[in-house]
Amino acid sequence: MRILTVIGNRPQFVKAAAVSKLLRERHEELIVHTGQHYDDDMSRVFFDELDVPAPDRELHAGGGGNTEQTARILALLEGEIEAARPDMALVYGDTNTTLAGALAAAQAGVPVGHVEAGMHSFDRTMPEELNRVLTDHASDLLLCSTAAALENLAAERTAGEAHLVGDVMADVSLAFQPIAEQRSDVLERLGLRDGAYVVATAHRAGNVDDAVRLERLVALLEAVPDTVVLPLHPRTALRLAEAGLRARLEQAPNVVLADPLGYLDFTKLAAHARAMLTDSGGVQKEAFLLGVPCVTLRDTTEWVETVAAGWNVLVDLDRDAALAALERPAPSGEQPDLYGGGHAAERVCDVLDAYTA
Ligand code: UD1
Ligand code: UDP
Repeated sequence: MRILTVIGNRPQFVKAAAVSKLLRERHEELIVHTGQHYDDDMSRVFFDELDVPAPDRELHAGGGGNTEQTARILALLEGEIEAARPDMALVYGDTNTTLAGALAAAQAGVPVGHVEAGMHSFDRTMPEELNRVLTDHASDLLLCSTAAALENLAAERTAGEAHLVGDVMADVSLAFQPIAEQRSDVLERLGLRDGAYVVATAHRAGNVDDAVRLERLVALLEAVPDTVVLPLHPRTALRLAEAGLRARLEQAPNVVLADPLGYLDFTKLAAHARAMLTDSGGVQKEAFLLGVPCVTLRDTTEWVETVAAGWNVLVDLDRDAALAALERPAPSGEQPDLYGGGHAAERVCDVLDAYTA
């Protein structure tokens, strides 16, 4: 088969790192990079460190609001799909790139495979939730990370063929932990001691686009008794500057601001943290896989099994709830295998092999 993979932002580069190499052992793959993320530290570093095959086409379609961005990517993809004539399109996750890729392919009559199908937060105010639900309905192959995702798809009566494959981000996390441990000197560079800091990431539009919520986030981070390392997502950096809040974080004695980190640095930083504070989807899973307790700055999550297993607590931007959650000990006993043990990409490829449109 000729497979057209459409990716464009940070978590998708990580996910494709698991799948693309395996896929190319059995099929022809073309990668289209939409350009949704374009800074070197949001894009190129992941191709380099994780050995993602270089994109065959780059659309440079980043920036703008959700509708405009989705429309721009969608329009550009029409010609790409026409030229490539793929047998299948593969999309990942829940971003504007995901929806545009799925819709453009479906409109062209090309079957769509959706990796991470069915993971819902049930919060329709999130652009990601809309993107994921719509992508699921446009997809022919629904590749699910968890059993909860399969149940969600059954409840929604999506038409595609659904399969439980595990989580491809977990494949990458498990494979690269020892490499990050060996290669990254991030602790030395940032002057950090093992287990003596918290790592924070925040970029959800619902947390950073509204100045009142953003101020709550800043106050929450200032109140953490530990050192907090905060690699700033570009959306967050922009919003902090616009709201005049960046100086507060720069002056907070407990906050260490950093640029977005490469995967190896981020993995090493997370692995040695006392806890994670995040609104990221991927980071919630990775914290679990690294055995680091997670406190999620949202009131819903797609990754409900991390909460059920006791490794993740949802606190929204409630400062006191966050501080209390940071104090709790890590759950005892052996961790359950929630995400397929590092073999999800193999299963994705098996399902693709068996698929006949
Ligand atoms: C997007 C996804 C979100 C995902 C996140 C991963 C949507 C709706 N959102 O959010 O689900 O969790 O990626 O990180 O698809 N910018 C830069 N340089 C870059 C990239 C972005 O400066 O390399 C700035 C630009 O000002 C841009 C803004 O960040 O307008 C937002 O970027 P965008 O890709 O639209 O949304 P994210 O917040 O990154
Ligand atoms: N990540 C990274 N450097 C950072 C922050 C995150 O390499 O400074 C990685 C993280 O390990 C995970 C992915 O980026 O694999 C998560 O992406 P993000 O939080 O941007 O998106 P989400 O998962 O919320 O969609």
